[in-house]
Amino acid sequence: MAMIFCSRTDDPEEWRAEFAEVMPELDFRVWPDIGKPEEIEFALVWDPMADRLLDFPNLKLIASLGAGVDHLLAATTLPEGVPMTRFVDDNLTQGMREWVLLYSLYCLRRVPEYLAWQNQQDWHRLSAPFAYERRIGMMGLGILGEASAWALQHIGFPAIGWSRRKKDLPGIESFAGEAELDEFLALSDILVCLLPLTPETESIIDSKLLAKLPKGASFINGARGGLVVEADLIAALESGHLAHAVLDVTREEPLPAEDPLWRAPNITITPHVASVTNAKSGARLVAENIRRVQAGETPHHVVDPKAGY
Ligand code: NDP
Ligand code: OXD
Repeated sequence: MAMIFCSRTDDPEEWRAEFAEVMPELDFRVWPDIGKPEEIEFALVWDPMADRLLDFPNLKLIASLGAGVDHLLAATTLPEGVPMTRFVDDNLTQGMREWVLLYSLYCLRRVPEYLAWQNQQDWHRLSAPFAYERRIGMMGLGILGEASAWALQHIGFPAIGWSRRKKDLPGIESFAGEAELDEFLALSDILVCLLPLTPETESIIDSKLLAKLPKGASFINGARGGLVVEADLIAALESGHLAHAVLDVTREEPLPAEDPLWRAPNITITPHVASVTNAKSGARLVAENIRRVQAGETPHHVVDPKAGY
């Protein structure tokens, strides 16, 4: 029973050690040392291997190392009938919840302004609203969006959410589909984006959408850079329509030194670290899905390639 591991950002040795504990019978191989392709039954992947997944005639499961699968769907031809799962893990959810909470409070309590004053050795006191005076608009109310919205609500932010299908979440008003997007945006003082990148959501955050936010709103993107038209975001920051933007993700990663995003006013950039895949819990979840596939059961968290998430 062999699995191929392919990622430029995750440490294969860390994963090998975890699988040795949780599934010692697994033959763990690291790309490009694939051995005999017909022996590979499982693939655990982050980076696209172009169409190389087609090289494995006996593949039974493609497990994404990420919650988002946009990169895989865009760059890989999926072998017919082989399920692809995405990464859903309490540790990943916890990481995102912490990051969203951190940067929502950072915007609310005007930390960027204090950092700027500190750089000039200037003692300045600013007034700041309470959390209950600023509404969070959560774009994407899936695993990560819902968990983050609960956490924000818990510390006092009123939270609303936007998704494809209507939700019934106590205390979180739900907006769904294009028809309810404008109303949702008009109510969002801090817009947090946790949407997957799909053909429907690509470039959704553009000048038209940003103009519908209240003046002085903040924007926090923990999802994917491809959701944002970056020139439009910079223009909204330059005009002062947006007070601040926090980006964990950008269209090009790593963000090149010459990219204008680095020099946009009132922007904070983190290097795609909002939440990082954890090998300890991750290996256990992937092993569980492997066991399910071997038992003829459907694995957990199968991606719908048509919907793109
Ligand atoms: P889920 O699939 O659980 O949730 C996606 C949400 O987006 C759902 O609520 C879904 O609606 C909604 N949605 C999808 N398409 C549309 C649309 N066209 N219009 C309106 N709403 C839509 O994803 P997760 O919460 O697990 O992850 C979200 C994203 O976060 C990932 O795709 C990934 O890109 C990113 N991510 C980033 C990380 C980082 O470190 N920066 C770490 C982990 C993930 P519905 O509920 O109706 O289906
Ligand atoms: C993910 C990510 O999708 O880390 O899991 O971006």
